[in-house]
Parts: sequence; structure tokens; C-alpha cells
Amino acid sequence: MSTKAKLPFADLSDHLLDWYAVTARDLPWRVGPTDRANGVKADPYRVWLAEIMLQQTTVPHATRYYLAFTQRWPKVTDLAAASDEDVMAAWAGLGYYARARNLLKCAREVAALGAWPDTVEGLRKLPGIGPYTAGAVAALAFNRRAAAVDGNVDRVFARLMALKGEWKAEKEVIKTTVQTLVPADRPAEFAEALMDLGATVCTPKSPNCLICPLTKMCAASAEGQPARYPIKPKKKAVPTRYGHLYVAVDSTGGILTERRPDKGLLGGMLGLPTSDWLEGKRGDPTFPLDADWNQAGEVRHVFTHFALELIVWRADVGEARGWMPRDEVADGLPSVFAKGVRVV
Ligand code: ADE
Repeated sequence: MSTKAKLPFADLSDHLLDWYAVTARDLPWRVGPTDRANGVKADPYRVWLAEIMLQQTTVPHATRYYLAFTQRWPKVTDLAAASDEDVMAAWAGLGYYARARNLLKCAREVAALGAWPDTVEGLRKLPGIGPYTAGAVAALAFNRRAAAVDGNVDRVFARLMALKGEWKAEKEVIKTTVQTLVPADRPAEFAEALMDLGATVCTPKSPNCLICPLTKMCAASAEGQPARYPIKPKKKAVPTRYGHLYVAVDSTGGILTERRPDKGLLGGMLGLPTSDWLEGKRGDPTFPLDADWNQAGEVRHVFTHFALELIVWRADVGEARGWMPRDEVADGLPSVFAKGVRVV
């Protein structure tokens, strides 16, 4: 009899990959299991673009943007040649505009290099590519034995291992564990399978252990309350800032917009005029032009570090000024402004 202890999770990747072979989600940036088996290779540009978008939002929301971007800019060289304004406008609605700026920087660097770096270390040097994205692109696009540990994968492993310790330290444990489990022959599918498991089975609020391929080896499931994990530190409440938002409407329904300063939140984006945003109090309105201004409602929007509550004012200027059509404002501007237009 062997005296060797069985490695924990020794057959995890077999179970996971068998499950993935029959349940893989059909996603536009993904090379599915059948195509992969037939030798189809993933396009690093598309993999990378999807990863950047998915850090920001859900699969359904990202899909719309992904399809629009890849239709307009099918290759990284096309995106690299696009103007800053066009890319920022196409990104609007995804939020966190520093990402869009880095997206373009990264595309331009890759275009200048002539090819994508195909290792974690090489990818890590590109703008906007952190440890997670480097791991994901290396695994998904280049089949490198890299761990791609995002929030979903953290959750899956916090449960498998019933981790109860300090969350930052536990994340390191998870990363090391996942890294040792990546199978040498199928890193891309391993990463994709973990993403699917986290998104469809081992979900945050109601994990479905009955259909999970890993239930038998899951410590949290054995304890009976898997949704307890991951045990996270309490979140600090974000402060609220207050201000005013001004919707000036011309006789054609066009709306006055202005470009925001390059530095700061939503930097360089087209927006609507607003007052300063102050914490703890709301200043008086400082209207952008003389007109008959009336309160139309309020909007609330939560950014990463603070919530914003704006009183929305409307004025009709009674003549054509060539301002931006309402639909373009509602569809194309950052969400906080789009919300403002919907109020008036
Ligand atoms: N979440 C993060 N990256 C993803 C990907 N490539 N496919 C599906 N969900 C994801």
C-alpha cells in the first residue's frame, strides 16, 4: 500500500473539466471545448478586451460592448489607430474611465510591439494589465499554466477549503492552491471552467451544491452553509457628496454638454455641466447660462469611493443651439449624466 498522502484536490481538475466539457457557456470571446479540441486558437486581442470589460461589469452588459468594439475595431491595430474620443465615447456606460484610457494605451503598445507578449511576465508590463488579467490572458489565449484568480474563483476556493482566516492572507493561500492545480495540458479550459462554476453554480448567495461537480471535495458544503463563505471584513460605508446637475435643452431637444477636465473622475469624458461635488453639504446652484431654471428631480449614483446625489435642474432656451440630441446623451454619456437626462 502506498504511504503517500493523497494531495488535497488531486482529482479536482478532472471533475471540473468533465463538467465543463458538457456545460461550457457559449460566450462570444470564448473558444469552446469542441473548437479547442479541433485546434482553434483564441485571439489574444479578443480575450484581453473581454477581460478588461468583465472586470467592470456583468457578462450580459459586457457582451453588448464587446460586440460593438470588435465590430468597429476587429484587430488590436484597428483599436490602436482609433481616436481617444471615439474610444472613450464607445466605452461610456461601462464606467471607470481610467480603464478605457489604459485600454487604448495598451492597444497602442501592442501595435508598436507587433505582437502580444505571451507570458504572464510580459503581459504584466502592459498598461492596465494587473496580476489577474495577465494570468487570465496567459491562460486563455496562450495556454500558459497561469492561475487566473478573480472574485469568482476566490469564492469557489474559499468554500472548497472553508477558509475562515483573515481575507487578504486567505487570498494568497487560494492563489497558491489554484496555481498548483492548473493542469499542464489544459490551462485555458481550467480557467474557463472555474469562471463558469463561480458564475453559474457556486454563486454568491445561493450556491447549487446539488449540481456542482466538486461537492464531494467541498468543506463548506460538508459543513452545510456554503454561502457563509467567503468570510469578508465589513465594508466601510462610502461617504456621500452633493451637488447640482444642469440640463439645458434647446428648441430641437438638444442638450448642452461639456468636456470634463482630463484629470479627476470621469476625466476627459463628455458630460453635462454640474456644480462642484461637496461632502457633507450642498452648495448653491451656479447655473451655466442665464435661463429660467427649474428643479426637475434628483439622481443618485455610486462611484467606487463615494456616492453622489445631484439635484437636477432643467431650462429650455427656446432656440436651436446645435446641442447633442437627447438620445445620444442618454445612451452615450457616463451613467450619472444619462440618469440626469432621464429625470427631466
Ligand atoms: N469573467 C472574467 N473573465 C471572464 C471570461 N473570459 N469569461 C466569462 N466570465 C469571465
